[in-house]
Amino acid sequence: MKDGFLGFRTSFMLDFVVVSLVLIVPVLVYSLFAVKVQKRYGLHRRLQLLLGVVLLVAVGLFEIDLQWIQGGWLNVVDKREVKLTSVQLAFARQVLYIHLCFAISTPLLWATTIGLALRHMPSPPQPSPHSKLHKTLGWLSTIDIVLTSVTGLVFYYFAFAAK
Ligand code: HEM
Repeated sequence: MKDGFLGFRTSFMLDFVVVSLVLIVPVLVYSLFAVKVQKRYGLHRRLQLLLGVVLLVAVGLFEIDLQWIQGGWLNVVDKREVKLTSVQLAFARQVLYIHLCFAISTPLLWATTIGLALRHMPSPPQPSPHSKLHKTLGWLSTIDIVLTSVTGLVFYYFAFAAK
């Protein structure tokens, strides 16, 4: 399993994070449906806290694996059977920089959104004076995680999967 389970020469944790990034999106959509349409505020809180923990654990293990065990993404790229040309490598690096903008801001924004919601939303949760700020932060957090997911998948494809 040292090369991951999606069929490319990566690592288990890299593939695990890719799958988590894909699975997070439908759960998030369901959580927003629950709060916006069904007004199930308690369910929304539980799902968002669950997503926050999954994100934290997945990204934490991923960083430990990528930086400490693999020694950086370039070492993982080196495991490829079909090597990347210098142009392909430069392109993958650019996609990575764009991905990092979202990947770094997402945990900060999520921690802020969750921290403020836990402090200022009533318990059990329901609309309150904090709603206006929470909706703004909530939608920004949503857009950020979706862009993290999409750009992460694009990077994975060009760095590890594309021939
Ligand atoms: C990062 C985590 C979270 C995200 C991304 C998020 C996202 C959102 C979004 C986008 C909305 C607005 C939906 C609409 O347009 O009507 C919303 C509403 C709401 N959220 Fe969250 N949420 C998060 C965490 C939480 C937590 C932890 C709580 C409870 C402590 C909570 C309680 C609520 C409530 C009560 C509303 C309804 C506000 C109203 O309609 O006045 N959220 N959330």
